[in-house]
Amino acid sequence: MADEAGALMHVAMTVNGSTVAVEIDPSEPLAQTLRYRLGLTGTKVSCDVQACGACTVLVDGLPRSACTFLAYEARDRAVLTVEGLAPAEGVLSPLQQAFIDANAFQCGFCTSGMLVAAHALLTSEADADDEALIEYMSGNLCRCTGYLPIVSAILVAREALGSRRPASGG
Ligand code: FES
Ligand code: FES
Repeated sequence: MADEAGALMHVAMTVNGSTVAVEIDPSEPLAQTLRYRLGLTGTKVSCDVQACGACTVLVDGLPRSACTFLAYEARDRAVLTVEGLAPAEGVLSPLQQAFIDANAFQCGFCTSGMLVAAHALLTSEADADDEALIEYMSGNLCRCTGYLPIVSAILVAREALGSRRPASGG
């Protein structure tokens, strides 16, 4: 709801499993709320026009570009950012560890969005084949690493998570 001055809205949302109440500008993108009001600077903004995937977060489990997704649209919904991927403090998820092991980043600016998008893929489309995986990730651009290490890392994580269904016996 907007305050009396019409300048700010008071909204609540769940971010990485915790309910947060925050005042936002009605025209404010979610990335701005996450970074500057909630201190979650893992979400990066690069193109700012929903073209590169760097700002990818999940809203109710679906990937969204936080640079254009308005924060008020996330009210009463569950947001997952890169900070929420680790299972515990100081413990990396298999996907995060696979990115490190495969040297799947250089500058790292795309990495948060890559990780969040890949997490969505591995949790929602666990049986995606390699071609579908590459297609799914095609909205996330990397300008310096090259895509082979990134795809390799996701494949390794998929195996580590046991997320690929065993082939049916013939
Ligand atoms: S910064 Fe949001 S898609 Fe590029
Ligand atoms: S690691 Fe630099 S843009 Fe991807």
